[in-house]
Amino acid sequence: MRFHDKVAIVTGGAAGMGRATALAFAREGASVVVGDINDEAGNSLVAEAEAFNGKVLYRHCDVSREADLEALVAAAEQHYGRLDTIFNNAGIEQPVTPSTDVTEELFDRVIAVNLKGVFFGCKHALPALLRAGGGTIVNNSSVSAFANVGGNLSYAASKGAIMSMTRVLAIEYAKKNIRVNAINPGVIDTDMNRRNRDLAANADEIEQRWRSITPLGRMGTGDEIADAVLFLASSQSSFITGVGLLVDGGRVAT
Ligand SMILES: NC(=O)c1ccc[n+]([C@@H]2O[C@H](COP(=O)([O-])OP(=O)(O)OC[C@H]3O[C@@H](n4cnc5c(N)ncnc54)[C@H](O)[C@@H]3O)[C@@H](O)[C@H]2O)c1
Repeated sequence: MRFHDKVAIVTGGAAGMGRATALAFAREGASVVVGDINDEAGNSLVAEAEAFNGKVLYRHCDVSREADLEALVAAAEQHYGRLDTIFNNAGIEQPVTPSTDVTEELFDRVIAVNLKGVFFGCKHALPALLRAGGGTIVNNSSVSAFANVGGNLSYAASKGAIMSMTRVLAIEYAKKNIRVNAINPGVIDTDMNRRNRDLAANADEIEQRWRSITPLGRMGTGDEIADAVLFLASSQSSFITGVGLLVDGGRVAT
């Protein structure tokens, strides 16, 4: 019960690795506030957590809107009295496309959700973490910050910038008892990848390629991401700040 009496926010927590992480926080005793745009899945998460007496509060939150994140942090403080950690996880994919075909609209949307969403989450969580006497932030970047996946220019740009922002905040808040880290997932078996795969004409080939570029020979799971996030969010990582933790089955080592 590493998070007994702790309060955690997870953005994009209705599905995929965010959902797995929200449930893991709840299983470890945290009171969890989940923000997402998929209200049906968000409400089903609350029911799933209730089955093991897990405390999860769901709020509609579009991370590309600053006011929504401000309200999500306020909900955590109003409902549970404090905030100890936030997992800025919500993100969207860029359909695989040659870079010169990326429209301004597509670029802006990916940056608005993936990068501004993390910025807004950090910006509004930080004062609450200070009010709680300190805490942790974990931002969801990607191996795309370091390794070329191909055909995902705006996505890679957003994920690289998350790493820079993570380092800036880690230094700015190091003396204030707030640690800021990121995770860099490799290919994880979630709806995001299933959507990307199913859009392609050669879906089987794509899935085979994902396995072959991953030295461990398979896709990762949401639970494996949750393990890494909870480690960085907990006091077990008390001397770690400003890093990106690769959870990629060895991908970037190749
Ligand atoms: N799946 C992978 O292989 C992979 C690899 C590296 C990084 N990531 C990153 O991990 C994060 C989670 O991805 P996933 O694979 O679990 O995706 P997913 O699509 O399975 O889940 C993403 C969740 O975010 C929510 N969401 C989307 N837009 C939102 C918005 N504007 N505001 C709030 N919520 C929103 C969705 O409704 C969904 O519940 C993303 O940031 C993604 O870029 C994924």
